[in-house]
Amino acid sequence: MKIAFYATKPYDRIWFEPLAREYGFSIHFIELPCNEDTVFLAKGYDAICIFVNDRVNAKMIDELYNMNVKAILLRSAGFNHVDIKAAEDKIAVLRVPSYSPEAVAEYAAGLLLSVNRCIHKAYYRTRDFNMSIHGFIGTDLSNKTAGVIGTGKIGQAMIRILEGFGMNVLAYDPYPVEGLGVEYVSLEELFKQSDAITLHCPLTKETKHIINKKSIKMMKDGVYLVNTSRGSLIDSEDLLDGLIEGKFGGVGLDVYEEEEGIFYEDRSTVIVEDEVLARLMTFPNVLITSHMGFFTKEAMEAIAIETLENAYALENGLPLLNKVV
Ligand code: NAI
Repeated sequence: MKIAFYATKPYDRIWFEPLAREYGFSIHFIELPCNEDTVFLAKGYDAICIFVNDRVNAKMIDELYNMNVKAILLRSAGFNHVDIKAAEDKIAVLRVPSYSPEAVAEYAAGLLLSVNRCIHKAYYRTRDFNMSIHGFIGTDLSNKTAGVIGTGKIGQAMIRILEGFGMNVLAYDPYPVEGLGVEYVSLEELFKQSDAITLHCPLTKETKHIINKKSIKMMKDGVYLVNTSRGSLIDSEDLLDGLIEGKFGGVGLDVYEEEEGIFYEDRSTVIVEDEVLARLMTFPNVLITSHMGFFTKEAMEAIAIETLENAYALENGLPLLNKVV
């Protein structure tokens, strides 16, 4: 099988190159993202392999189909970046449904701890030998209420961590998990009662901008908000307004709705055009990272194995267990 591997970073090669040799696959590593301008590079390949900020729309699906590309191998669990409906009956879209839920949950907890206790700010102060702690006061998480939106694999791992902190956990999910031992409440109740809210649902039509002016208004003053899921779960402009009004104790974002073309790239020498992102960066109680919740050795290894297992199943006519439908 010949695979065109888009949006390659050095760390992708570390995990995929040796494994591809074992499977006997030929991978062409392309640094460019996959989009309407670069899709033609897939000509002559059996599959393309893409990451979270590559977009594949209906027009591109048709082009890939005409080029006889058989599969879109997602190096991710989320699949909101591919037009699944357009791909139906044309190209198999295969994802990695679970690689390390703990990796993302642990990272989300890290963001929560950092914004609460100002660890990200303290790092810079002490590096300058400014040992003042003034302004860094946080709040105990123990005995406070956490609201978890989405109780799938990552949400459940996060619940275990939050319970470990001694937090009382409330959850919202339209498909509650039986026997989880967590209290499910309505979204409205979760917004009203939580001291910290963490997002672990996928991006769908229903969840787009689930955090908006209205929901922010319902939240407690001084609430902490963490998003390691998808940027568009939050209406960034409404978040900005909430931050300006002083609504939030802290906000930790690993994802941003306009992250495509910005995250994963070194943009340190160019002018930032995204004014919302630039303004978000100015708040002392906001910590933004570049979609790296998944980024552990264990997760990278699991992503590489599962992605190539998906390709192997396709090549050998085995059941496509990870096909997105
Ligand atoms: P999952 O599929 O195991 O769980 C998602 C849960 O969300 C399910 O229980 C589902 O019922 C629930 N859900 C669906 N619609 C909902 C709604 N309207 N409101 C509330 N909950 C809803 O997925 P998993 O593995 O837990 O991943 C969650 C998300 O995390 C992914 O969709 C992806 O966007 C994101 N993610 C982020 C990563 C990062 O590096 N920052 C890495 C991996 C995933």
